[in-house]
Amino acid sequence: MCGIVGYAGRGKCAAKCVYEGLLRLEYRGYDSAGISVLDGGKITTVKRSGRVCQLESAAGGMSGGIAIGHTRWATHGAPSDTNAHPHNYGAFSVVHNGIIENYAELKEELAEGGRLCISETDSEVIALLIDSLYSGDALAAVAAAAARLKGSFALAVLCRDFEGFIAVRHKSPVAIGECDGAFFAASDVPALPAEAENVYFLEDGDIAAVTYDGIAFYDFGLNAQRRESCRIPRGQFTADKGGYVHYMAKEIEEDARTIRDTAEAFLRSADADALGSLLTSSDEIIITGCGTAYNSGLIARRYFESALGRPVTVEIASELRYYPPPVGKNTLVIAISQSGETADTVEAVHKLREGGASVIAVTNCGYSAITRIAHAVVPVCAGAEICVAATKSYMGQLAALYLISRCTGDVRAAAKELTDVAEKIPSVISDDANADCFSDMCAESFAVFFLGRGADYDAAVEASLKLKEVSYIFSDAYPSGELKHGTLALVDESTLSVFIICQPETANKCLSAVHEVLCRGGRAAVLTSVPEAAEELGKYLPVWKLPKVSPRLAPFLSAAALQRVAYLTAVRLGRNPDKPRNLAKSVTVE
Ligand code: G6P
Repeated sequence: MCGIVGYAGRGKCAAKCVYEGLLRLEYRGYDSAGISVLDGGKITTVKRSGRVCQLESAAGGMSGGIAIGHTRWATHGAPSDTNAHPHNYGAFSVVHNGIIENYAELKEELAEGGRLCISETDSEVIALLIDSLYSGDALAAVAAAAARLKGSFALAVLCRDFEGFIAVRHKSPVAIGECDGAFFAASDVPALPAEAENVYFLEDGDIAAVTYDGIAFYDFGLNAQRRESCRIPRGQFTADKGGYVHYMAKEIEEDARTIRDTAEAFLRSADADALGSLLTSSDEIIITGCGTAYNSGLIARRYFESALGRPVTVEIASELRYYPPPVGKNTLVIAISQSGETADTVEAVHKLREGGASVIAVTNCGYSAITRIAHAVVPVCAGAEICVAATKSYMGQLAALYLISRCTGDVRAAAKELTDVAEKIPSVISDDANADCFSDMCAESFAVFFLGRGADYDAAVEASLKLKEVSYIFSDAYPSGELKHGTLALVDESTLSVFIICQPETANKCLSAVHEVLCRGGRAAVLTSVPEAAEELGKYLPVWKLPKVSPRLAPFLSAAALQRVAYLTAVRLGRNPDKPRNLAKSVTVE
């Protein structure tokens, strides 16, 4: 999603600081980037289609102590110089993250008054609107404009006549950090400089007027608000490749650490009794999330069903928000979100909570929107995840969900199971021979199908998402038993079927499916922790033997292996796995 940055500091290097912030925030979108600087009552803007790094030399030459910046994930209007933010009009320059739903009607109204948009974006109208409401008081104009906008928006605004910048939050995040006497605003904490440990999180409906001297908070009616800063231990939240070529490689290496840290944090601070009673007092449990978070919910469903002995449903949040089942006070929603800001997940949870449901949030971002709606928050301790494709956060989500599901039993024993599994991950992800062989096969394929049964099927769904996100190879996941009901028609020498066989009770059934693929000329490869399957299939095709663990925890190992395969496939095909085309992290719009 788009990222916004704002800076106010007494030096003249605001543009450089904003540029560096945009580099740290680029995972939120990389279609275009731009910076505006305010100096001596004059606003100067540079903006270009493409990556943030194109602004480096221009930013170096822009002098001034106040600046705003933007990195874009295009929603309205193609990636282009004109559609790039900041958008300027009259005395104002504006950057926006979110979607303005009433932009068309505002555009028409402003055009009648002679104010014309030149871009195709929904965002430009904000600059025109603020200007139309301006009569010498920038804050009043921004507040009046904010009250007229519908949709979601995080804004940073410059005005020629205001020695600072104005930040606004409505359903899209803004954090403001203090460092060395300067103030730095950004969509996400990792974009703040590492020294910014005192961080303010704007609430929905907040306006912050940020000057050299401090921050004043208001609501949209300009009533003063009090906001406390939080001390954020930044070690975990700084964006740093740590010597790796890509964040994705580094973050996969952090899978095991994430599981351990999540388990330790859970034992240290989770209220297992309270979580256990939320589980037992509910009649119905709905797990929800988007993308990888939803996929971790698929696996978690089995954890909760086996622990509680009753059915649990998993719903995609973008569906759930519009088509919720009947809920009541005995409904428990378990919402999973790495960022805690995904618009569909936040809205779905909001709606169900209004219907009376209790909410447990499982998130990697402790100060995010979802934490403000939940009754209980269970942290995932992945640290900053910068690669757009989620890897270590998936592992942390699985760990947190497993522990929640065990809150009615022996949580310590469950945590020990997790740390035992985590110990096995490094040997899996450092198995270069198998990872190279599998990724070579993927890279040569027109399409890749991931197949498994039970929890292996759930792991296959995530493996398929990972491969398609970063390599752009078509892939899909099926329960092995479904192969013959349709997908087999697609099997030929150009397709690869990757089987995950870690559930001993259905291993034999999967062997038959493998043979069905082979005898129709399809290519296949297998990951398995079942020795008989490895022995039998090793005669015909590549087999990656995984360490033996409890079948329900096997997805931790198959997922780690297939994250690495997806990464290597992307690199072989010359893709940038950290910034897949058309995608963004933290999808804060619908
Ligand atoms: C985007 C990201 C995915 C992520 C999904 C949900 O699609 O690219 O990696 O799984 O959003 O994000 P969340 O922050 O809610 O987990």
